[in-house]
Amino acid sequence: MNQNELRTFLDKTEAIIGRNWLENATSDPEEIASYYSKLRKFYHKMHSQEGAMHFPIKPEEGGSHADGLMFHVKDLDETVKDMDYKKVIEFGCGVGFNIINLARMNPNVEFIGYDLTENNIRIAKERAGLRNLKNVHFQLGNFDTMNPKDFEKQDMIFSIEAMCHSKDLDLVIQKCHQILNGHGRLIVFDGYGTQKSRSADEDTLRAADYFSKGFFLPNPQYLDETIDSGKKAGFQDLIVKDYTKNILSNFVRFEDGVKLIFKFPWLTKLLIKFKIMPIELFRHGLAGLYGPYLLKYGFAGYFRIDCRKS
Ligand SMILES: C[S@@+](CC[C@H](N)C(=O)[O-])C[C@H]1O[C@@H](n2cnc3c(N)ncnc32)[C@H](O)[C@@H]1O
Repeated sequence: MNQNELRTFLDKTEAIIGRNWLENATSDPEEIASYYSKLRKFYHKMHSQEGAMHFPIKPEEGGSHADGLMFHVKDLDETVKDMDYKKVIEFGCGVGFNIINLARMNPNVEFIGYDLTENNIRIAKERAGLRNLKNVHFQLGNFDTMNPKDFEKQDMIFSIEAMCHSKDLDLVIQKCHQILNGHGRLIVFDGYGTQKSRSADEDTLRAADYFSKGFFLPNPQYLDETIDSGKKAGFQDLIVKDYTKNILSNFVRFEDGVKLIFKFPWLTKLLIKFKIMPIELFRHGLAGLYGPYLLKYGFAGYFRIDCRKS
């Protein structure tokens, strides 16, 4: 989508669902959990039968979807081994794709998967049980409201496309700092608004808002503010890597798929009205529709942030 097409798609989006509905759409924890429960089968069918719920990171010249989904696991596995870490937790583990793979690759390390969505925790437990893994456990909880004192000290905390759902990322980062050992680190893979997005035109701001609503993101999160939060929490060293170009091809495929339902807005409106198309699915589509535009024009990016305590 280019800048001229953007206006057309914004108009079509509002014709289908109404500007009022879009402005009033919220992303509370119950709604986030319901979204992930309802879209679980969609993710399974369209994205990863192994349960990954994140973007594949691929070399710019291509690469397989399955390898791209494993990029994060391989990257984190290297850190666990290099640092000889023994206790690792994933905040927002989904159905356990990352933490189960890491547990298999590191039988002497203890892993915890933590997630808000009961359905995801249930499936993650089943998947770990099928593999007879004894070094991974799962816990239901909300990282926005958790008490750091309820956790044993950890060597590494990681989070892949989950902290974007936080209502107060600054506070979550402070809590992670408290949970980590002195040599520990927090590694986050996620999307953030860039400096450029702060002075974006009105249409782009609307696209960014609809994108956030599509992925049930309660607040805009910016890269610079997140780095400041890490420093404020007491992390000594923050290393940022930009993987925006490596997720774009997959995102554009998502956009192409979503554009099909915008060909006949009146039909989509009817399908939603008669509940043939779940509203969550349409809403999810907005992230696919506007995400690539925001990435391509530099209003948002996808980053790995490594926050080291020492
Ligand atoms: C996009 S999925 C990513 C799952 C997993 N990290 C992966 O890479 O496959 C985001 C996950 O974050 C969880 N989540 C969202 N908000 C959360 C919160 N406040 N506390 C804990 N988990 C949360 C959701 O339930 C969902 O399973």
